Amino acid sequence: MPVTVVVGGQYGSEGKGKVVAYLAKTDDVAAVVRCGGPNAGHSFEWGGTKYSLRQVPSGVINPATMLYLAPGSVVNQSVLLEEIDRYSVRKNRIRIDPLAATVTEEDIGTEERLKLKERIGSMLSGTGAATAKKVLRHEGVRLARDVRELEEFLADVAVELNEFLSQGKRVIVEGTQGFGLSLHHGRHYPYATSRDTSASGMLSEAGISPLHVDQIIMVIRTLPIRVGGDSGPLPNEISWEEVTKVSGYPIPVAEYGTVSGRLRRVARLDMSIVRRSAMVNRPTQIGLTGVDYLSYRNSGARMFDDLIDSSKEFIVNIETALGVPLSLISTGPGVDNTIDRRPRGAR
Ligand code: GTP
Ligand code: MG
Repeated sequence: MPVTVVVGGQYGSEGKGKVVAYLAKTDDVAAVVRCGGPNAGHSFEWGGTKYSLRQVPSGVINPATMLYLAPGSVVNQSVLLEEIDRYSVRKNRIRIDPLAATVTEEDIGTEERLKLKERIGSMLSGTGAATAKKVLRHEGVRLARDVRELEEFLADVAVELNEFLSQGKRVIVEGTQGFGLSLHHGRHYPYATSRDTSASGMLSEAGISPLHVDQIIMVIRTLPIRVGGDSGPLPNEISWEEVTKVSGYPIPVAEYGTVSGRLRRVARLDMSIVRRSAMVNRPTQIGLTGVDYLSYRNSGARMFDDLIDSSKEFIVNIETALGVPLSLISTGPGVDNTIDRRPRGAR
């Protein structure tokens, strides 16, 4: 049952892309399937390059890993083609399902007209409008099979992924956004994204049975964020100045959205959303990013014992509260800035 699902346990930007890149590099991964749409951006650093991916799966750093865009995903053709070019992805390495929806200029215009940015802090990427047209069986819908420029990448994604699984090979399902943004489970509707962001939702988008799954990694941040603007409730909100002061970072810390470019809102850890996400997702492991934000002294650490005592305690408290091993600890944006506590046999 070799499927790993990687999902976010807060309001997005937990670092799922970095975790997927790390797994693709470290483990024997045949394929990564990216769900969601171009409203989510996955960023990390590897080999001196800064990766910023809105479409191409984060498994891109391992040339032996096949890359897929799920039938339930949404594709912006120019963003995708630009990323394929920028990261020199071999054409026969990336496949798109013909039934994936694509974004048109009209979809972006629809979201602007609905004032989604002002009302809910939307990215205005057209992902929600394109999804709605697919749901309505709208005559203006444009699926990947209707776009000439995507023709050479088309393949039956569920069939190819399930072929890997029948050969006992590992597939990673790369989720997007966070549990608190789920259309059905986020609890702050209409402050939600246009899809379900749970592990089950991602499997449904990819076309993989839950019975194949042996690992669900819920990624959380030490300091959760929400996109800038009127993006909905964020308990314990603080300022980046406070983050800089408390962490002892030598330079001012501030994060800007990969897609929106807006200054992200930041907060202290709130366990209520994390517990609810754990209830619905039932993770087998937790990934924790931003341990360098707890203290700059943790930056780049690769061994648990190299963390400062209060950070070790922070980690053990989360494990105890959730009853789930916190097995991947991230101490910086680099793929190598990772403490891997998984038992050898579980890799
Ligand atoms: P979404 O699907 O859009 O939610 O994306 P995501 O979960 O992949 O996260 P995203 O890449 O949008 O944001 C995470 C940011 O944190 C990126 O800029 C990463 O480079 C960065 N990052 C990841 N891990 C760490 C870490 O341990 N420390 C620091 N300082 N930054 C990190
Ligand atoms: Mg992002």
